[in-house]
Amino acid sequence: MSALTIKLDRVSLKRGETEVFKNLSWEVRKGEHWFVMGNNGSGKTSLIDLIMGHLWPQKGKVVVLGETLGEVFLPQLRKRIGYVSPWIFNRMGSSVPVYNVVASGTDGSVGFWGNVPDPIYQQALAKLEFFHCADLAERAFGSLSSGQQFKVILARALINDPELFLLDEPFAQLDIGARMQAYDLIEKWAGLGHSPSIILVTHHLEDLTASYTKGLLIKDSRAVFKGSRNDLLTNAFFKKTFGITKKIF
Ligand SMILES: Nc1ncnc2c1ncn2[C@@H]1O[C@H](COP(=O)(O)OP(=O)(O)OP(=O)(O)O)[C@@H](O)[C@H]1O
Ligand SMILES: [Mg+2]
Repeated sequence: MSALTIKLDRVSLKRGETEVFKNLSWEVRKGEHWFVMGNNGSGKTSLIDLIMGHLWPQKGKVVVLGETLGEVFLPQLRKRIGYVSPWIFNRMGSSVPVYNVVASGTDGSVGFWGNVPDPIYQQALAKLEFFHCADLAERAFGSLSSGQQFKVILARALINDPELFLLDEPFAQLDIGARMQAYDLIEKWAGLGHSPSIILVTHHLEDLTASYTKGLLIKDSRAVFKGSRNDLLTNAFFKKTFGITKKIF
């Protein structure tokens, strides 16, 4: 199998009148942890949607986990990808039991249709235990606090131990303690030895824990920087992208 987890080859994407990407190329290798930053509306969510096959480029090629989008059965591919985004939180029915939400991660659906078979229930319970929240299994998803919901969505996203984990502003609702705990939980899972690639979209520098050694910075429909974290976070491009004049590094 290819050592590349993601390959975007000269991708152009238009949404309505907006040219979101023009000739964007980007490669993520197996096991790499990247953060993606850029100003509001620069295309970060669109990038994640391209990788998930929710959006199709007008030009260029997207290859994910060795499969070319357009030539692969997407539901099968999505079983190999973990995905957390505000969209997922909003789509979860508030009366759906937690075990059912987690079970739905096995086939990448939003909520599990019908009765959850016992082996999948046990799998869901094991993942909830891993994230220290098995006691929530029978509760309704909508009755949980934001921090509890986050852990459940994390368990759902990671139930298949995916090879690729996509996080689009996942920590938005969490207080600082819950954020720190979330970083630890993700690192604990990533440290299990299966070398997942992780892509984290965020606006917050404190989210960039040490394992995110690569960064992609997007502005004006172009990747203005892709490469090492240390180069990016001291780079003039970073301050220019966000119009920052004060010393931050
Ligand atoms: N459904 C849509 N129809 C038309 N244009 C859209 C649609 N969704 C997004 N866009 C436009 O595409 C561009 C990129 O949007 P996107 O949501 O990818 O940005 P983002 O970097 O994730 O922003 P944010 O930091 O605010 O989440 C924006 O100009 C946005 O207005
Ligand atoms: Mg976004």
